[in-house]
Amino acid sequence: MNVVMLGDVFGRPGRRIAAQFLPELIETYQPILVMANGENAAGGFGLTKKVAEELFEMGIQVLTSGNHIWDQKEMYSLIAAEPRILRPANYPPQIPGASVYIHRCPEAVVAVVNLIGRVFMGDYDCPFRTADQILTALPEDVTHVIVDFHAEATSEKIALARYLDGRIAALLGTHTHVQTADEQLLPKGTAYITDVGMCGPIDSVLGVEPETVINKFLTQLPTRFSVAKGPACLCGVVVSLNKTGGAEGIFRLNLQ
Ligand SMILES: [Fe+2]
Ligand SMILES: [Fe+2]
Repeated sequence: MNVVMLGDVFGRPGRRIAAQFLPELIETYQPILVMANGENAAGGFGLTKKVAEELFEMGIQVLTSGNHIWDQKEMYSLIAAEPRILRPANYPPQIPGASVYIHRCPEAVVAVVNLIGRVFMGDYDCPFRTADQILTALPEDVTHVIVDFHAEATSEKIALARYLDGRIAALLGTHTHVQTADEQLLPKGTAYITDVGMCGPIDSVLGVEPETVINKFLTQLPTRFSVAKGPACLCGVVVSLNKTGGAEGIFRLNLQ
């Protein structure tokens, strides 16, 4: 039972490389679920209805997100009406949007959960306690839980994965846009990777035109970022689920 997860889809280059490889990935791995982080899919900043629909048409069934999900104003109303677009659960409780998506298919009932980290991020609620609350409240028929933990610090990601080991099938890190080489099965059967990586332009700084980012560091002045041009890379993982709520394997996708 495979699940395909694509890292942060960045702008048009990210959407294009996802569209290019998804048919082949779906054919090869026959996933029961295809998911992606969509927080940068619209021009690098947030997500729009049109872009989300484009991603769903490619075969992506649920979009997780992170700090950039609020970049496009239309998301404030869209996210309240679209259960397939998640925002991190540990934002203040009054904001719109769901953070858990239940995917029911003949083989399994997979709960996709989105959380955000606090280290070098914002003043969010505790992701550890939020995860506990979510797991306690899941519908009884859920067989597997997959968490997209959108966070900066490696330590926080590994710590949450270890905290949830044996209670979830996978914890997949996002946000840094750089794929890490530490994919592994934790001792109690949870699949883990610190960062899935990005689907986006290769010659870039995390998807953005390098010149503008370098200029920002040099001058400290407000800078308008644009999506970098040139060839893109698809980063993702394939998680193989077992029959007892855990995972039996995880490997990386890095395609161009
Ligand atoms: Fe991102
Ligand atoms: Fe992010």
